[in-house]
Amino acid sequence: MPVEADYHIQIAPSLLAADFSRLGGQVREADEAGADLIHVDIMDGQFVPNISFGEVVVDAVRQSTNLPLNIHLMVREPDYLLPGLVKSPTDQVLVHAEACNHLHRTLSVIKEGGHQAGVALNPATPVAAVEEVLPLVDIVLVMTVNPGFGGQSFIPAALNKVKRLRRLIDENGYTVQIEVDGGVKADETAQDSVRAGSSILVAGTAIFNRRQSVAEAMREMRESVRGLGPDF
Ligand code: DX5
Ligand code: ZN
Repeated sequence: MPVEADYHIQIAPSLLAADFSRLGGQVREADEAGADLIHVDIMDGQFVPNISFGEVVVDAVRQSTNLPLNIHLMVREPDYLLPGLVKSPTDQVLVHAEACNHLHRTLSVIKEGGHQAGVALNPATPVAAVEEVLPLVDIVLVMTVNPGFGGQSFIPAALNKVKRLRRLIDENGYTVQIEVDGGVKADETAQDSVRAGSSILVAGTAIFNRRQSVAEAMREMRESVRGLGPDF
């Protein structure tokens, strides 16, 4: 199927890979390099075996950009964090299906607050885990690594899940974007993700690394998916 000229792929640099000793500068670099969203990973040391940062650091990020924050909550029962973390009308809030006992309620609270809501799926979690909440969400985040750490390798089997989700979403006429997160580089991992039907690419170490500037990395990523769209 020919790709529509205006098919827009959003690139969301993940701050987990940024240099935290100069976080504000790194956020500005990503913003100036044309990032569409800033991906913010919140980890509680319970749902995932790692702790990242919380409200205070997210507030500092807000001082350096007006881009929407794509807030990825790798947190067990995250409802208690929402009031402190989610502050701007443009915030997008993503919770894990595996982490919420009452997923529908948590997503409803996010939507009632006027925010975009997303649901994230671990590599072992099937599409069926989100089927019933698709009418409620704006984004499904398909994890392409097991969450908790940056710099891991992309799990190719996740692409099938992206394709199945894309079909399910399109067949039902929902307006839901598919986001991929983990091991996405400016190569076939990004390209195959877009061809499978995702339109938001999260990239940590591919954007913040010692090899190149943030601007160069963003250009490379954008270039690698130029002209691509869902391939079915
Ligand atoms: C992993 C995080 C990712 C991570 C991606 O649990 O959710 O957002 O920062 O990092 P890379 O792109 O390096 O795999
Ligand atoms: Zn993430």
